[in-house]
Amino acid sequence: MHLDLDKTLVSRERIATRVAELGASLARDLERDLTASGHSPDQIVIIPVLTGALVFTADLIRCLPLKLSLRLVAVSSYPGKSMESKGVSIASELPKDLADKHVVIVDDILDSGQTLAVVRGLIEKQNPASVRCCVLLRKPPSARKAGGHEVRVDYVGFDIPDDFVVGYGLDYDGFYRNHPEIATLRKEAVGGAKG
Ligand code: IMP
Ligand code: MG
Repeated sequence: MHLDLDKTLVSRERIATRVAELGASLARDLERDLTASGHSPDQIVIIPVLTGALVFTADLIRCLPLKLSLRLVAVSSYPGKSMESKGVSIASELPKDLADKHVVIVDDILDSGQTLAVVRGLIEKQNPASVRCCVLLRKPPSARKAGGHEVRVDYVGFDIPDDFVVGYGLDYDGFYRNHPEIATLRKEAVGGAKG
């Protein structure tokens, strides 16, 4: 484990087990929707919110034995050594032509809820057949109240305390995304951070 990391909150094994469970329920629900709506099977679109959802999405889509396409959206909310969202800006083009698609937005973590509220709102304007949100981690409801962004998430991997975490795609100042577990950072490693 890298010296900057403090405690492991979620181990590799627990992540793998939970991602498989999330994939199984997502696949079941999407199949049910496709059958009910009589849509052709090429209607499923998975939209990871980059960069944090990269690792989670790579594992999750391999647990979905369905015909699907992947469209990306890049969002930036934590500039540099910040641990507090500074507002959401969409840093890429938004996926288009989502009308009548079954869309699954995948993100690493639900914190204030701003990111998913913005992305979900923009996607819903395109009249997709359905929109689901799937997050690996969720901080406690108190994290959302400050921003007042209550957003519906349909699948949650783990509820975690209101700590800043890294690993499995999550970063601090762009680093630690490759760490295979969810971990907290040592205080010394967050020097210069605001908030
Ligand atoms: P929200 O908009 O406040 O819900 O924040 C969501 C985004 O902020 C996530 O997609 C993450 O990229 C980032 N984020 C929130 N909490 C953490 C954390 O504890 N560690 C690393 N990134 C985080
Ligand atoms: Mg993110």
